[in-house]
Amino acid sequence: MGQGSFEGRVAIITGASRGIGYAAAEEIVRRGGKVTITGRDADALAAAVKELGGPGVALGIAGKADDADHARSVVDATIAEFGRIDHFVANAAVNPVYGPILEAPPAAVRKVFDVNIIGAVEWIRLVHEAWMKDNGGSIVTMSSVTGLGASPGIGVYGVSKAALIALTQQLAVELAPTIRVNAIAPGVVKTKFAEVLYANDEEGAAAPYPLKRLGVPSDIGSAVAFLLSDDSAWITGQTLVIDGGLTVPLGDMQQH
Ligand SMILES: NC(=O)c1ccc[n+]([C@@H]2O[C@H](COP(=O)([O-])OP(=O)(O)OC[C@H]3O[C@@H](n4cnc5c(N)ncnc54)[C@H](OP(=O)(O)O)[C@@H]3O)[C@@H](O)[C@H]2O)c1
Repeated sequence: MGQGSFEGRVAIITGASRGIGYAAAEEIVRRGGKVTITGRDADALAAAVKELGGPGVALGIAGKADDADHARSVVDATIAEFGRIDHFVANAAVNPVYGPILEAPPAAVRKVFDVNIIGAVEWIRLVHEAWMKDNGGSIVTMSSVTGLGASPGIGVYGVSKAALIALTQQLAVELAPTIRVNAIAPGVVKTKFAEVLYANDEEGAAAPYPLKRLGVPSDIGSAVAFLLSDDSAWITGQTLVIDGGLTVPLGDMQQH
């Protein structure tokens, strides 16, 4: 198998009908792999499956990432269709609440943690049980630069993304040596999810980034493929920050 190849490999990616998850699926398929993708909207998912190459290469199953029955059916269908689950990407996430953390309705806080953390644990439990515990594999979780420190305005989401980094470290140790687990922490990437952050003034939004542009989904998709593939065989428990240099520490009195 060539470097970074996904020949003979199968991945499940949650929340992959568009955006970062779709870009990761595209990269895996481009390198010879097969993918199962999820999302809530069945039509959008069917269109994405077709774009990826259709049946035999991609499988789409609609459902909510925090629905354990849905997760189980995706894992079962992937084994039935492709016979294995080498890779898993916990990508689907929600951010239903903005503002100070103590003003967030408890139901919204619960939803964020249900999807972003408890959902991720459940998916990993299922892929581990169905395939990885006997055959090994690799996992990527989609954190965020908001998980690296305080994030005024999106604190609930940021805390969930920090928890995802801790979960990644914990599982990397618990599931070693046969399963690797790494996180990715992107800055703002141009997707529907983040549109509100740059729609009115993209140049202004990109100004604090040393590379002077926002991310695009393929910036993250290629990194997902790297962390899943054998190219990163000695990397586990790490968080790869991909943010155009946004979080590079500067000396006093300096601004990006
Ligand atoms: N874009 C950024 O700036 C940025 C930065 C840091 C981290 N991230 C993280 O990157 C990941 C992907 O975000 P994105 O920017 O690519 O968003 P996106 O373009 O809006 O895509 C989100 C995908 O997830 C699906 N989805 C949303 N909620 C879901 C749910 N509850 N259950 C199942 N599927 C769901 C969506 O399809 P449906 O709507 O049909 O369900 C869609 O396929 C998230 O974990 C996000 O936190 C994004």
